[in-house]
Amino acid sequence: MKKKLFIKTYGCQMNVYDSIKMKELLDPFGFESTDDMNYADMVIINTCHIREKASEKLYSELGRVKKIKDQKLTNTGSDMIIAVAGCVAQAEGEEIFTRAPYVDIIVGPQSYHTLPELVAKLARSEKHLIDLDFIEEEKFDNLPKEYSDQGVSAFISIQEGCDKFCTFCVVPYTRGPEFSRSPEEIYREAMSLVAKGAKEIHLLGQNVNAYHGKTLNSNGDGVLASDIIFSLADLIRHVSSIKGLERIRYITSHPKDMSDDLINIHGQIDQLMPFLHLPVQSGSDKILKMMNRKHTRAEYFAIIEKLRLVRPDIALSSDFIVGFPGETDEDFADTMDLVKRVRYTQCYSFKYSPRPGTPAAIKEQVPEAIKTRRLEILQKELSKQQLEFNESCVGKILPVLFQKDGKYDNHITGKTPYMQSAYVENADKSLLGQVVNVKITKALAISVTGEIV
Ligand code: 5AD
Ligand code: SF4
Repeated sequence: MKKKLFIKTYGCQMNVYDSIKMKELLDPFGFESTDDMNYADMVIINTCHIREKASEKLYSELGRVKKIKDQKLTNTGSDMIIAVAGCVAQAEGEEIFTRAPYVDIIVGPQSYHTLPELVAKLARSEKHLIDLDFIEEEKFDNLPKEYSDQGVSAFISIQEGCDKFCTFCVVPYTRGPEFSRSPEEIYREAMSLVAKGAKEIHLLGQNVNAYHGKTLNSNGDGVLASDIIFSLADLIRHVSSIKGLERIRYITSHPKDMSDDLINIHGQIDQLMPFLHLPVQSGSDKILKMMNRKHTRAEYFAIIEKLRLVRPDIALSSDFIVGFPGETDEDFADTMDLVKRVRYTQCYSFKYSPRPGTPAAIKEQVPEAIKTRRLEILQKELSKQQLEFNESCVGKILPVLFQKDGKYDNHITGKTPYMQSAYVENADKSLLGQVVNVKITKALAISVTGEIV
């Protein structure tokens, strides 16, 4: 009988992807997924460290898992392996064993490929196994080459880590330096996912547009090519040749790496969806500098202008941080001004959260009440813009890739090209997995609805 594996995933799409890979890794060793932790023989908590109280959250989650482990042992006599993966594992390391001694395995985001080996060691009665190595190349070389079915909308990690060192961010410390996978490997994974039914692929990376993958073998005869480097634009062109792949997206980009070539392909490649998540974080030049973002607001505006020139309908999204140390009312006003000029269709916004070990954490902090107030003002404007965008779609016919059942029994939901959620009532469930034209009849706060045409 197969053993049951339960993975709980926190944080970004990269973590979702890593959890898929952990499942693929453990599958040949007799583990199959379960949605019920009570029956699990192994539980992996895949953690996120980006904001607020990440370690406290982990320890309280671990407390809950421990109770289930004890109950299972009492009721069935069988044990449960507990593993902690992801960015909190990387940041906390051995400390996790000290605070939660019942944890068996700790693996970082660049070393989880050793999980099967660590599980085998555990079976040989070794205790407290930890792997926090940072050799990304080794990880990708050791991931299974059999890719599981991710459904109609799939993810491929193409780039990991970050060399930018924004002063608020833990990613360069937890995910390590920038690393790009080879175009061949990515192409192979994309082909396999499309063969399994994917119509949309999201190319993922912490700094996805810094992608610079070296080809393994450009001429297909086993001879190593001499350093042909693919940019993200080259990779998108390459992947867009895959038959059956209808939609390509990439996330997350940094303004500094928005090359003209990448901007221009938004007007050239049909499968590349008219949506870009391009975090700006702040609209104040002073704060951008203190954040070490490496660009000005004028440069950000210039990118947006060029994008809209080649793809006038492109929908834009961003991340914002309010209350970064040193942010005054004027700086915040600059952020509001930027938001009003750009006009976004959906965004994420956060209060600055000091992350241990990052430069901004030791600076004088903005009072919590001010952060709260600024976030409210910003989110009100962002919600207004999102609703206005949704309203501007009413009356249009948009192709929707239907992905799953909706909130209610008779709903199916999916995404428009603009990454906007759309749902249809009383639709035939056989439309799931297909791109279908929908006449938008109504706008809601975070979605649109309409009729199949
Ligand atoms: N505090 C608040 N928000 C943060 N982010 C990253 N680090 C922090 C932090 N210390 C946000 C940024 C980033 C998104 C993924 O999370 O906006 O783009
Ligand atoms: Fe973090 Fe900045 Fe790197 Fe993005 S670019 S992952 S915000 S350090």
